[in-house]
Amino acid sequence: MKAYPQTVHFVGLNAPIGEEYDIASLAVEGQIPADVDGVFFRAVPDPAFPPKFDDDNLLSHDGMISAVRLQSGAASLSMRYVKTARYLAEKEAGRARFGRYRNPFTDDADVQGVDRTVANTTPVWHAGRLLMTKEDGRPYRVDPQSLETLGSYDFGGALKSQTVTAHVRVDPVTGELFFFGYEADGLASPKIAYMIADKDGNLVHEHWFDAPYCAMMHDFAITENYALFPIYPTTCDLDRLKQGGDHWIHDMEKDSWLGVMPRYGDAAQVRWFKGPKGVSCYHMMGAFEDGQGRINFDQCLSNVNAFPFIREASGIHMQPWEVQGALTRWTVDPKGAATEVTETVIGPPGDFPVIPAARQGRPYDHGWMLTMNPDMKGPPVAGGPVGGMFNMLIRLDFKGGPMQALPLDPGMSFNEPVHVPASAPGHDGWLVTIVDTQVGPNDFTHACWIINAGDIGAGPVAKIAIPRRLRPQVHGWWVPSAQLAAAA
Ligand SMILES: [Fe+2]
Repeated sequence: MKAYPQTVHFVGLNAPIGEEYDIASLAVEGQIPADVDGVFFRAVPDPAFPPKFDDDNLLSHDGMISAVRLQSGAASLSMRYVKTARYLAEKEAGRARFGRYRNPFTDDADVQGVDRTVANTTPVWHAGRLLMTKEDGRPYRVDPQSLETLGSYDFGGALKSQTVTAHVRVDPVTGELFFFGYEADGLASPKIAYMIADKDGNLVHEHWFDAPYCAMMHDFAITENYALFPIYPTTCDLDRLKQGGDHWIHDMEKDSWLGVMPRYGDAAQVRWFKGPKGVSCYHMMGAFEDGQGRINFDQCLSNVNAFPFIREASGIHMQPWEVQGALTRWTVDPKGAATEVTETVIGPPGDFPVIPAARQGRPYDHGWMLTMNPDMKGPPVAGGPVGGMFNMLIRLDFKGGPMQALPLDPGMSFNEPVHVPASAPGHDGWLVTIVDTQVGPNDFTHACWIINAGDIGAGPVAKIAIPRRLRPQVHGWWVPSAQLAAAA
């Protein structure tokens, strides 16, 4: 078999593993809180075969679904590939047949037309269904107990969009699932599809509208009355794809935009507010309306696209330290005369923001995110698609209280935590996350940590060693045992 390229996307923490397994019992150090009873589903990209092209990147790698089960004080772990059409086609041939990241013109002739999504970004739980998502295609439904793949999911044939985001929003009051797809009718298209599924998972709303230009739309946000669609200038061009080129080029001269649509609105009701040129963002912490009807939209904004491979393709040559960002609030008045966003920095640089699910679309007074410890001596652990892993967890208090921090020792890194609410009133709940520790040039150990979300500086209340090598996770989702039982 062809060897894996020795690039950052395939070495060290990013070295392919490709193992499906079940570990029935994991040793628990400390005590798993009674609130933490459920399954931590994780999406982990891991290529089943060496890529066709050596410039392949981690975002293209086959999706694996990982289940860390924390139930009745015990812990177990399972890992499975999502059996996408692409995975099955490559498995059949025993080699890679799909080409460059999001460019089907580079695929083998005999797999043209085969669904090429890898379902590697977020496990989404809604209405008793578990979906593995990636923004370039439709999700795959997975059995939450066995982790077996049940097939591509189109909401019972109702979905028209060819794509579904990996970042959905669930309203905590109505239970509705809000989501969208971009490039909704094909490659490089500016068409956005905006969808709502009711609390039972029925697709009840799908409206299409045009973005100012075709852009990477990784995440979005809702408020009580609006859906918010950010556009940052990472753009696609069909002719470039046909020539075998990159899907994404970041354009520092193009404006960013925030599209504001009434929650249950349509294309005619979208209003676009202009933002700064050249900026980029992958994840929003949240959004909400203030007492005056203004919309606050909080995002991990950076001055350029954070992915080095996209900057290289764009001819943007910046040192890692020149890539700067901050938790940034854009404020707009949907009924006002101003046509541009007002920008305010509200937190440090970082990513993987988390708020309690109960505050989705509502004002929130605290949140958590990952960042780099500014006092850390030496480089972060190399890994993930950006090249460096985060080494500090923070809790931000928007009421003016002090920031809490949990810095890791050198050689350690955090993956994105999930939040588990507490049953006790006034308790912040818990964060569950995987922590990597580098123990040799190419050796890593991993553990699941459970942290008191209101006192993160105290460190984990429980640690569960994972006796396997793990690749970096993208996103996760916490599903309580009671919901799994009800769905079964
Ligand atoms: Fe994401």
